[in-house]
Amino acid sequence: MEDKRQHLSENKFLLHWSCTLLLSFLAISPSTQAFNYGEALSKSLLYFESQRSGRLPHNQRATWRHHSGLTDGLEQGVDLVGGYYDAGDNVKFGLPMAFTITMLSWGVIEYGNEIAGAGEYAHALEAIKWGTDYFIKAHTHPNVLWAEVGDGDTDHYCWQRPEDMTTSRQAYKVDEKNPGSDVAGETAAAMASASIVFRKTNPHYSHLLLHHAQQLFELGDKFRGKYDESVRVVKGYYPSVSGFKDELLWAALWLYKATDNEAYLSYALDKANEFGGITWSMNEFSWDVKFAGLQIIASMLLVEEKHRNPASKLVLLEQYRSKAEYYLCACLNKNNASNVKRTPGGLLYVRQWNNMQYVSNAAFLLTVYSEHLRASKLLLRCDRGESGPEEVLAFAKSQVDYILGGNPKATSYLVGYGSRYPQRMHHRGGSIESYSEKKGFIGCTQGYDNWFHRKGPNPNVVVGALVGGPSEEDEFRDDRKNFMQTEACTYNTASLVGVLAKLHSFSHM
Ligand SMILES: *[C@@H]1O[C@H](CO)[C@@H](O)[C@H](O)[C@H]1NC(C)=O
Repeated sequence: MEDKRQHLSENKFLLHWSCTLLLSFLAISPSTQAFNYGEALSKSLLYFESQRSGRLPHNQRATWRHHSGLTDGLEQGVDLVGGYYDAGDNVKFGLPMAFTITMLSWGVIEYGNEIAGAGEYAHALEAIKWGTDYFIKAHTHPNVLWAEVGDGDTDHYCWQRPEDMTTSRQAYKVDEKNPGSDVAGETAAAMASASIVFRKTNPHYSHLLLHHAQQLFELGDKFRGKYDESVRVVKGYYPSVSGFKDELLWAALWLYKATDNEAYLSYALDKANEFGGITWSMNEFSWDVKFAGLQIIASMLLVEEKHRNPASKLVLLEQYRSKAEYYLCACLNKNNASNVKRTPGGLLYVRQWNNMQYVSNAAFLLTVYSEHLRASKLLLRCDRGESGPEEVLAFAKSQVDYILGGNPKATSYLVGYGSRYPQRMHHRGGSIESYSEKKGFIGCTQGYDNWFHRKGPNPNVVVGALVGGPSEEDEFRDDRKNFMQTEACTYNTASLVGVLAKLHSFSHM
């Protein structure tokens, strides 16, 4: 993603108050448009092939892409070939990449049957494995995790296809002396959740992932610190503003889900207060801020009888639930104190830069929680009344429908879906003619001169990319320079996969 310095300063002010105290007036009327969620699901999974780094396999479907980053890690004597480019640039950022894999895995864990029903199960597993294969390589020693390849400053200086990259591919790591509990914790969460995904189809691989997850959690927990102090080049791009405590709780809960080992749950309960798990009330969930997600996972444990004893455990899980409810009610506009703002067209609005990430993440958490309410016959308790599973799911659906074209601009924000979608996505590879058609080298600034500044549409459609999306007034400017709105990130689409599968499943009933 483009320079995050502004994001950092914005975050400081908006993290706790990314909401409005005013009532946001609901302007949504029930959508009469029918959307093809199955098609959107297929396209969303195709997106991950466009973002692939490394040696591409024979069954690569995004054929406008080619091998790239084949010497990643070479300078440091480590094989870091593979993984995903983060967004419209060619940097491999470990923290958001790991979050992408955690969210894809969570989607498959919850909606594996629905994804299979749409014929997309193999693609979903491939998307996850492209990430986990890379994390296995990047975790070269129990206490060493390579956390980034390339850097934002030198990468952004050029506008090049990944296949032509001449920018620095220096790799950066965290270890005992250079701690990075947030990136280690998120990578542990990614590996643990993916180990659940592969348990049946590939038990050996699942085991391997779990082993890495346990070591990574230990690395993050034993040697504590924010990774942006160790990998300083990441500061302007993906700084860990919320710190590492949320990632450690999140990792512990994912490891508990993957192992059933009570020690991991005890960690999340013992440190619930100290690490902010039961004190932070959030109204955003993102690659940086995991509290809402982990609060929801903890609160859903309450349905099992074994978690209702002893009383001390019950109390802590109920406190987690109360914070989870705060987030969900904020999305539904049903808190008295603060809610997530909405655009006049009804889209959740957190901030101007890549707002869609918050939308797709919210849609995912709401969908998961609506399932939980339905299965446990419970209601979501908000200041302004209770909500049943149908209402919660309907709101999640309204956000997806907005994304797919049910909005004032009648534009789909999922690239390649629908009759109208962004044509000038801020994406280096997408905006320059395909390497498979023209292999001649395109230099660093030549890309800006010949491709970035063009008025015309991008030559390659990055199918399935979810762009940053419209302003708080539902306005959208389809301009390559407008990276706040036209850039997509892997974690935008990742959360959408499970939701699209769930919505698609209704068309079969
Ligand atoms: C929320 O506000 C409404 C209207 O002012 C009030 O009736 C209600 O008691 C409040 N709920 C809580 C939990 O504060």
